[in-house]
Amino acid sequence: MTALADVSCPTEVSGAPDLAAVADAPALLLVVGADTLVPLVDGRSVPYANLDVAASAPALRSVADRVTEVLPLYASVHRGAGYLSQVSTALYEASRRTIGAFVGAREDDVTVVTRNTTDSLNLLAGCVPANADGTPGRVLVLDVEHHANLLPWQRAGGATVLAGGASVAETLSGLRTELARFPYALVAVTGASNVTGESLPVADVVRIAHDAGARVVLDGAQLVPHRGFSLAASDVDYVAFSGHKTYAPFGAGALVGRRDWLDAGTPYLAGGGAVRQVAVTGTQWQTAPARHEAGSPNVVGAAALAAACDALAALDPADLHVHEATLRAALVAGLEAVPGVRVVRVWEDAVDPVGVVTFSVDGHDPGLVAAYLSAEHGIGVRDGRFCAHPLLARLGYDAGAIRASVGVGTTGADVVRLVEAVRSYVEQGPATRYEVVDGCWAVADDPRPVPVGSGLEGLFATAAAGFLADAAGCGPAV
Ligand code: ALA
Repeated sequence: MTALADVSCPTEVSGAPDLAAVADAPALLLVVGADTLVPLVDGRSVPYANLDVAASAPALRSVADRVTEVLPLYASVHRGAGYLSQVSTALYEASRRTIGAFVGAREDDVTVVTRNTTDSLNLLAGCVPANADGTPGRVLVLDVEHHANLLPWQRAGGATVLAGGASVAETLSGLRTELARFPYALVAVTGASNVTGESLPVADVVRIAHDAGARVVLDGAQLVPHRGFSLAASDVDYVAFSGHKTYAPFGAGALVGRRDWLDAGTPYLAGGGAVRQVAVTGTQWQTAPARHEAGSPNVVGAAALAAACDALAALDPADLHVHEATLRAALVAGLEAVPGVRVVRVWEDAVDPVGVVTFSVDGHDPGLVAAYLSAEHGIGVRDGRFCAHPLLARLGYDAGAIRASVGVGTTGADVVRLVEAVRSYVEQGPATRYEVVDGCWAVADDPRPVPVGSGLEGLFATAAAGFLADAAGCGPAV
């Protein structure tokens, strides 16, 4: 299989297409739930416009079909003599190979099946070699990162968090200067910001880090599903990514990269499957990947992620790029044309961002705008600080912002709906009354019913009451 990023993508989207020009743009791939109807406060139901794929992307149809196909084959992995155990073990190992190949794994790279990007980076944090004096190995990270690529390094103890500059050039220069000050083991960098979709040029980061003797881990949570990526082509040392952002929300993610650190590092979880031999006096651990996969492996999740990798790899990379770049350009242009709306940027000179767009509406609480988009238009976005508190603070968005993100299941009509809804909010304001309940904006006396089949019907009288009772995820705290 060819990793997406092994194929050069000559097609650029120049200029900003107007909204009418993208209105008919179809989805690139079928996703489950594309036609799910959601209720509005006025009693109507409309197809859900899922513009929150940067948080969690819906399953591809082909992924859901694959899960249905493999479920009857499900049995224990690496632990059973039965026929289906053998099949499930083979399925798990074949999925591992597909996942690794999708991100351009080199011959000696290891693919560890994890839960998600956060899991992968926590795992790697336990494998960074210590300094000669036993102190934790130094890791350099920018303040633009989301918490998954910040907190594991901070907790491990060797992290330096460097403020990014206003431009890509300034940020790269800051990295170079810092790397000359100390011998760093690792530079941890995002492949694409989960706030703005922007990125640093990976080739430059790799060159600067490698020249200084440091390895590079790429947080591929946003880049991998949106653009594809290749370890072999980029010379990046490790990449982490999530199935639930790669159209395979079945609990698997991956860490792929150089074997030596993963073979020597602290086993991520202590337990069965990660060991060669256990005695009451001590344990002999496996090498990677088994070393870091204690407990029963998630074969269904791995097969789902492999199916998503296959589906994305089968796309023409130019089609993937053009689909997303066109929708993003229309979204940005449409939002910026609405008075009082500002699109957030990290770097003034960043090029070719992925389809993640954060914006604010002057004088309006992001949580209220997001609640309005849901209640009056059936549009799903994320609001708050996007698990990237240091970046939002530096950019002056302590109260949070609103994020819309697109993917292979997004249509031009979804983008048009969002822009028109934001314009309607600014020009006319909401049509219903909202209030803050437990720190979250919600419709006052929300009349929307809980979805039939959700299993929540008997528990909660209304969606608002039901969802808010469990909502720990709203507002600028997250
Ligand atoms: N990092 C995920 C997001 O950006 C959770 O929404």
